[in-house]
Amino acid sequence: MTRFTDIIKAFVGGIARSRVSLVGAIMATVIFPVLLVSAVLDMQGVVANPYFGFIIYMVLGPTFLLALLLVFLGLFFFKGKEEVGIFTFEYLKEQFTAPDKFVRVRKLIMLSTGLTLLNIFIVLLISYTGYHYTESVAFCGQFCHTVMTPEYTAYQNSPHSRVKCVECHIGPGAQWFAKSKISGIRQLFAVAFNTYSRPIETPVHGLRPARETCEECHRPELFHGDKLYVKDKYLPDEKNTHVQTVLLMKVGHGGYRGQQAQGIHWHVAPENKITYTHTDRARQQISEVVLEKLDGTKIVFTTNKGAEPAPPAGNEGGVRVMDCVDCHNRPTHVYLSADEALDQKLLSGKISTALPFIKQQALAVVTKEYTSTAEAKNAIATQLRAWYQEKYPALYKNNILMIEQAISGVQQAYEENVFPSMKIGWDTYPNFLGHKNDSGCFRCHDDNHTTKAGGTISMDCDTCHVILAEDEEAPEILKLLRGKK
Ligand code: HEC
Ligand code: HEC
Ligand code: HEC
Ligand code: HEC
Ligand code: HEC
Repeated sequence: MTRFTDIIKAFVGGIARSRVSLVGAIMATVIFPVLLVSAVLDMQGVVANPYFGFIIYMVLGPTFLLALLLVFLGLFFFKGKEEVGIFTFEYLKEQFTAPDKFVRVRKLIMLSTGLTLLNIFIVLLISYTGYHYTESVAFCGQFCHTVMTPEYTAYQNSPHSRVKCVECHIGPGAQWFAKSKISGIRQLFAVAFNTYSRPIETPVHGLRPARETCEECHRPELFHGDKLYVKDKYLPDEKNTHVQTVLLMKVGHGGYRGQQAQGIHWHVAPENKITYTHTDRARQQISEVVLEKLDGTKIVFTTNKGAEPAPPAGNEGGVRVMDCVDCHNRPTHVYLSADEALDQKLLSGKISTALPFIKQQALAVVTKEYTSTAEAKNAIATQLRAWYQEKYPALYKNNILMIEQAISGVQQAYEENVFPSMKIGWDTYPNFLGHKNDSGCFRCHDDNHTTKAGGTISMDCDTCHVILAEDEEAPEILKLLRGKK
């Protein structure tokens, strides 16, 4: 009967005889407690630093596994002076047939089976938590700090701030998982060697077709009804006049409960497949739009009245099936324009509307070019202070607090949308949801894309929304809808 202590003795003896095992054993002994404690701390969410996970799962974990491997390699194959080639048949045969050697081998096998079970458990634990770590928002959004700060900041201020990066950027299934890990390794190199582009290019050309990700949570065929769209704005006058724009947005749906697809989400109904040709990388220039019905009939809209469409320039252009991100390209990385960002701060009270001309002055100072966020914040503070001191000395003296608070609101508006270190200014990333600067919907809906028969993609204002009020102070329609009349 082999006693447990004998096994331990044989094991320790084995390790002691082999230098390779010894190194492995020392490494494993040192790392094990550190790894265990940090993994527990991480799982309990005690340490929130994004680099912590990286150290545990990408550095300590693999090193621990390497150490274990060394122990076993050493035990069997590098025994001190009499080093043996790995898996030479002669050697293995001798170990198993000579009775005195076999006793030792048997002990080692028993012990290593026990230890292997323990190790499998640890490996599984590390792989599981490590996998979750690379899928986490902390890893995607915070690890490569400067690079991802803009996307991460914009994300945190969006309706999707509780949706993980990977749910839109990777989605379910093994194929995209593998693609994303390969692309992730390339990205880590780009960061390590500082070869990434500033700003990061948009659109993302390798993005998974959005319908496979967005529709895990949203079902456009079931959207219904119109949506009231109310936008608050402040004019750049002395009183910072509050005005509102009210639209009835025809959100529509992709066809449900016997109803025909209609309104804006008519584009994503199964019976309307839209493919378009763009001639630039940014997908701003659209030369041809093809609408294919379920029965295969095609309606072709081109910009050059029925002639062949212009070929895409170089490899920058392409042909694309229209999906959610051709309109919702900023569902979560929402960068506001300077105007909108300041209006939001005014609306929420972060910037007081009681300060004369604050909208106008803030707009002037935030839209200047700065080389760093620190410089911008400084300039915002000094310029606004100086302006009020000169133009409204009495107000300045009595309302220092209000002015300082407004300054911090203006600084926030800047910081949340402009990132000089990544060369992101106001309006660097276009938003296709709408028609600012004739972009977005007006890339197709411009009355210039026509069929041979003379049909167009409509630019009629009522196609997408009914304008109920535009930049009005206290619009009548809102009083009516809110029953205050
Ligand atoms: C709700 C879905 C969604 C989530 C969640 C999401 N993204 Fe995105 N992301 C997108 C879309 C859509 C685009 C733009 C695709 C396009 O236009 O081709 C994009 C673009 C990007 C870009 C390219 C630059 C740009 O702004 O166009 C980066 C980088 C990026 N995302 C990183 C992240 C990180 C990091 C997170 C998590 C903190 C994240 N994303 C979470 C949908 C999402
Ligand atoms: C993991 C689930 C999930 C995924 C994936 C997802 N969303 Fe969402 N989305 C949500 C939730 C939840 C909300 C509502 C948030 C709220 O109202 O607080 C939302 C809200 C929205 C809204 C309304 C925003 C607003 O301002 O009211 C739009 C538009 C939207 N999502 C588009 C998209 C698009 C486009 C994609 C794919 C690129 C996508 N979503 C992917 C969960 C998801
Ligand atoms: C043709 C452009 C277009 C396409 C394609 C499109 N959407 Fe929209 N979507 C819009 C517009 C415009 C709105 C309303 C605008 C707003 O809320 O500011 C909207 C609203 C939404 C909302 C909010 C609905 C509500 O009732 O508040 C969600 C969620 C959404 N879209 C998801 C999607 C998903 C998922 C897809 C892809 C399957 C998609 N959309 C395709 C333009 C589009
Ligand atoms: C890639 C080109 C393209 C883009 C971009 C685009 N559309 Fe369209 N849209 C079309 C085509 C094609 C039609 C069908 C025109 C026809 O047959 O008369 C259409 C039709 C519509 C219709 C009428 C649907 C119906 O009930 O018949 C609405 C509403 C609409 N689009 C809204 C939008 C909005 C809002 C946006 C921007 C957020 C947008 N579209 C962006 C191509 C586009
Ligand atoms: C193809 C669809 C489409 C057509 C055609 C269209 N719009 Fe719009 N419009 C939109 C969408 C979508 C938005 C909302 C953008 C957003 O969510 O911020 C919008 C927003 C607006 C706004 C509010 C802008 C703001 O301050 O936020 C105004 C004003 C407006 N449209 C006026 C017009 C006028 C005038 C026309 C006719 C020349 C027109 N639109 C034609 C889709 C359309």
